[in-house]
Amino acid sequence: MAPPETVPAEGVPGIEEGERRRVSRRALLQAALIGGAGIAALPLLALIGSITKTGPKPATVIYSLNSDWLFGGTYQPGAEAAAFDDAEFTTVTIPHSTAELSWHGWNPASWQQVSIYRRRFKGAPLLGTKTSKNRVFVDFDGVMVNCTVVCNDQVVATHQGGYLPFSAELTHTLTSGQNVLSVIVDARALPVPPISIGAGPASVDFMQPGGIYRDVSLRVVPQIFIADLFANPAQVLTAAPRVDVVCTIDAAVQQAGALATLTVELLEDGVNPIATKTLGLSLIEGAGTASLSLTNLGAVKLWSPDSPTLSTVQATLSVAGIGAHVKTRRIGFREATFQPDGFYLNGQRLQLFGLNRHQLYPYTGMAMPARVQRRDAEILRNEFNCNMVRCSHYPQSPHFLDACDELGLLVWEEAPGWDQVSTQQSWQNLVVQNVRDMVTRDRSRPSVIIWGTRLNETPDYPALWTATRQAAKQLDPSRPSSGAMDSRNLAQWDEDVFAFNDYSFSRTTGTSELFPPLPGLPYLITESVGVVEARPMHFTWTDPPALLAKQAALHAQTHNLARSDTRYSGLLAWAGFDYCSLRGGRPANVKWAGVADGFRIPKLGAAVYRAQVDPKTKPVIVPVFFWELGGVQPPGPQAMIASNCEQLDIFVDGGRVTTALPASGSPLYKNLPYPPFLVPLPVPARNAGHPPPDLHIVGYVAGQRVAEVRMSADPSRDHLVVTADDASIAADGSDATRIVFRGVDAYGNQRRVSTGTVTLTVAGPGVLVGDNPFEFGAYGGLGAVWVRSEAGQVGTITVTAIHPMLGQAQATVQSSRPDATTALI
Ligand code: GAL
Repeated sequence: MAPPETVPAEGVPGIEEGERRRVSRRALLQAALIGGAGIAALPLLALIGSITKTGPKPATVIYSLNSDWLFGGTYQPGAEAAAFDDAEFTTVTIPHSTAELSWHGWNPASWQQVSIYRRRFKGAPLLGTKTSKNRVFVDFDGVMVNCTVVCNDQVVATHQGGYLPFSAELTHTLTSGQNVLSVIVDARALPVPPISIGAGPASVDFMQPGGIYRDVSLRVVPQIFIADLFANPAQVLTAAPRVDVVCTIDAAVQQAGALATLTVELLEDGVNPIATKTLGLSLIEGAGTASLSLTNLGAVKLWSPDSPTLSTVQATLSVAGIGAHVKTRRIGFREATFQPDGFYLNGQRLQLFGLNRHQLYPYTGMAMPARVQRRDAEILRNEFNCNMVRCSHYPQSPHFLDACDELGLLVWEEAPGWDQVSTQQSWQNLVVQNVRDMVTRDRSRPSVIIWGTRLNETPDYPALWTATRQAAKQLDPSRPSSGAMDSRNLAQWDEDVFAFNDYSFSRTTGTSELFPPLPGLPYLITESVGVVEARPMHFTWTDPPALLAKQAALHAQTHNLARSDTRYSGLLAWAGFDYCSLRGGRPANVKWAGVADGFRIPKLGAAVYRAQVDPKTKPVIVPVFFWELGGVQPPGPQAMIASNCEQLDIFVDGGRVTTALPASGSPLYKNLPYPPFLVPLPVPARNAGHPPPDLHIVGYVAGQRVAEVRMSADPSRDHLVVTADDASIAADGSDATRIVFRGVDAYGNQRRVSTGTVTLTVAGPGVLVGDNPFEFGAYGGLGAVWVRSEAGQVGTITVTAIHPMLGQAQATVQSSRPDATTALI
């Protein structure tokens, strides 16, 4: 059995056992020096008093290392060697998945292997000069699952687990000429969280395709530099708010006694200093922390979902004879607390309203670039009006979280885990380390309001959950810890907030139910609805409209219940988006629990979310049905229309059939800010010789007509539409945007189409990421692909889609020169 500090044998193929252990210890020491794990044990920096800010110009460069990787597929021993002939390798860009995937039918066998990536780069621009030498790190934001990093034939890092960042110092292995960085990626279902020892890929409810699936960069810093910066606003609702700052300084290669100044500034709009503090430091060799508080901030603008004002904290470390290093963090001034009577943001009770998100995408697994990651946050906040997301069940893309900070989307973040815990110490140590790495990565973010330190739906392991809770508290005393539970046994629970996955429903009435809150405890519902009540257990586009409409009703009902008692802090329903799963992922290994599908196209189930917005911001009318030749689908005494209007006038074939008001009196919906409308709609008469009738819904607020929707029942006017999410992407070979194609009626409403394929062609400097042809009819009359730029190739990308009956349509995207921050080397 491998001792806890070693990487599992399968993680480092081709390296002898003795060598592997030596390497692992070295990597761990390095992690301790740069990552924070061992910092508490290292000497603190000595404070020698406040001095005036002086010093040389900051020298910090971060190069994107996403482009020009060579991917060799299955790893052959020796393929990491600098001299290895990689002429047969394929050029790829990061984010990258080792498997070629469709949107469905994923089989872990397609990525259950060890693969090799290689990247060449020139060292000369990185190393500095004889008198001013740099240190160089390669930073990996996430590699699935385990990996070994080799630079010029030396192992520089090993890492276990796919969801957290790690770095390797290259300083001593780089040459000024050509360097070869090799990354051996083991994407098998290794016994690292969330997968327990002895368990396979089907033991967790989400698939984990492998690869270097998050960004890679080279970080060039001076000999002594700021390894981490934690900026934590405090007392924000008082007359004396402050920002508590902890800088972790890496002086690993420096003789003791060097003199330094550390200047920390609070910048408004990223530029104007509001507060500054400078410390004089005498550095002690190793790593240590320097703490200070920025005070006299004046009146700070608070961060909230409605007004997500961000500020920047900038730390500059200047060391005599060495140079200067700058590190920044974006922060927001907010106070977030969970109380027994609900969640409070900035002293006001705020009902948490949201969804869970998996980071899985069709075609690429988890490997999507910043723009696409950010878009999920935009959908959740701006289209589904959520004020919170749960990152189920692992730390998610930093780009997604950046967007959460910017958009005001509150975040539950949790360590990788799902329903299982190994009793082995080595596995449990990884859980604790994951919590440390997660908290260290994201503790300055205003959006993150709670840490999931107890893994999702796991039994009680008191010692482990104490250790993870303490790890989080030590690194971030400001946030509560929790863990989503599937039992309400308080004897086995010891967290700050009771979080419960509540899938209750009544088989008699077919409606959502919730357990009552637990008295005296902060109480949050972390999952609800899912596919539990669907029969069969999915919400696909080809399911009967009655089932799709039921998803909307169940989500509306569960949020309604969560608003019925202020002791519910709120509810995060299951789930935002469909995802691939081997546990009940049916059909096609997809879990169809999303209110939007895997392509992020809203189903009927998203309707009530879409309407929960002030009509002054956006008046909304979303029919929870299809309007077809036979009338409303699903047929029935009442059709649901999700809307934030005060009144709807409804016309069929030009004649008013009803004037409707929201279902504000319905116990199923009355607590929602904007309850849906439940409207009897007639089955239109079939008049021979007349075209099938239109449905026209007009919405009013304060007597003013503010919105309208027209729907056609005439299939002869159906056509194909193609849309691109973005007008422009960066020509860096990584950036991508979504192209959606849909069969729609004359007014653009989704039509249920059950036949034909869509064939796509791409002209210009873009690469199609997706199935082509696409099984359009089998999917239900819609679908999507992504189009990715080609590195260095600017121009217009045109995507054309053709369907045998619905015709042809196009979308264009401009591929533009990338900005300086994505500089290629
Ligand atoms: C929950 C679990 C989720 C998901 C859901 C199934 O118990 O926490 O990850 O698997 O069930 O719809």
